[in-house]
Amino acid sequence: MARWIRLYSAEEDIWSHYELDDEEWAVRQVDLHGPEQQPITATALEEVLRLRDQENLAALQSYERRYGVLAEGSLDGWRDAAQAAGITRQEFEAVWIRARQHLAQPEPTVANSAALAHALNDAAEPPLRPVPDQVAELLKSLNCPPRLAAHLRLVHDVAWQITDWVRQRHPHLDFDRQAVLFGAATHDIGKSLRIAELSGPGSTHEAAGRDLLLQHGFDDALARFAATHASWTDIDITLEDLLVSLADKVWKNRRVPDLEDLVVTRLAQASGQQPWEEYAALDELLTHIGDTADQRLTFQSAYPIHG
Ligand SMILES: [Fe+2]
Repeated sequence: MARWIRLYSAEEDIWSHYELDDEEWAVRQVDLHGPEQQPITATALEEVLRLRDQENLAALQSYERRYGVLAEGSLDGWRDAAQAAGITRQEFEAVWIRARQHLAQPEPTVANSAALAHALNDAAEPPLRPVPDQVAELLKSLNCPPRLAAHLRLVHDVAWQITDWVRQRHPHLDFDRQAVLFGAATHDIGKSLRIAELSGPGSTHEAAGRDLLLQHGFDDALARFAATHASWTDIDITLEDLLVSLADKVWKNRRVPDLEDLVVTRLAQASGQQPWEEYAALDELLTHIGDTADQRLTFQSAYPIHG
């Protein structure tokens, strides 16, 4: 027998509503985010399966970009979740209809692709490197919001400066510079699926971004950054992860002492230098990068979320 429930994630400030079948698998799902209860997901198993059966990957991706990704597997533990409650079918249908109407926005426009091309290619002061070609192609295929592309380009450029400095200062240090650059250029790519998180809080774009990259054939060593860029205190975090997180802060001159300390510790261990010496050198670099943060902020805000 079908049943309708809702659960709340305080961490993400998301109310999830489900229609469940008799095995408590999600048949339909609606997620509402934040105090405005903004719809971010309204997805149906039947529609997902139809697209999968057609093996139409592009259509499935476009569906998931628009309507979100359905929770898979049994939700039979839902009764233990925070503020879990049964709701009526009518209550579910009301949020479903509202969310579907909200998410059924017009198809991507020519204007969006033009603005996206500008965000990826426009000259800037100080000069801004382009993201790697494979990332630019991916962003275009996703019809990425122009502002997100501008952000990824800025963070990639700062990561380029940081990794260039690391390479020159510690020529024998073994780290994967290309992975850092890829990670910086894609870290927020999940926001192309969770557009509300481009202008508001939320972390659902992190796992969504990693999944999106995996779906596009990138291996986990590259896709991981989309999920790790905000969690630098995790036990298995690498120097590459830390450098992506650092670039994602310093581009706007945001200084995060505990993150910088972790970077300094790794560099001091690798070089045998005193931590204070490493800190002084890193501080000089980050101050230099921070001096042009205003130009970067102006660049980013010049590009629209929707083209
Ligand atoms: Fe970011």
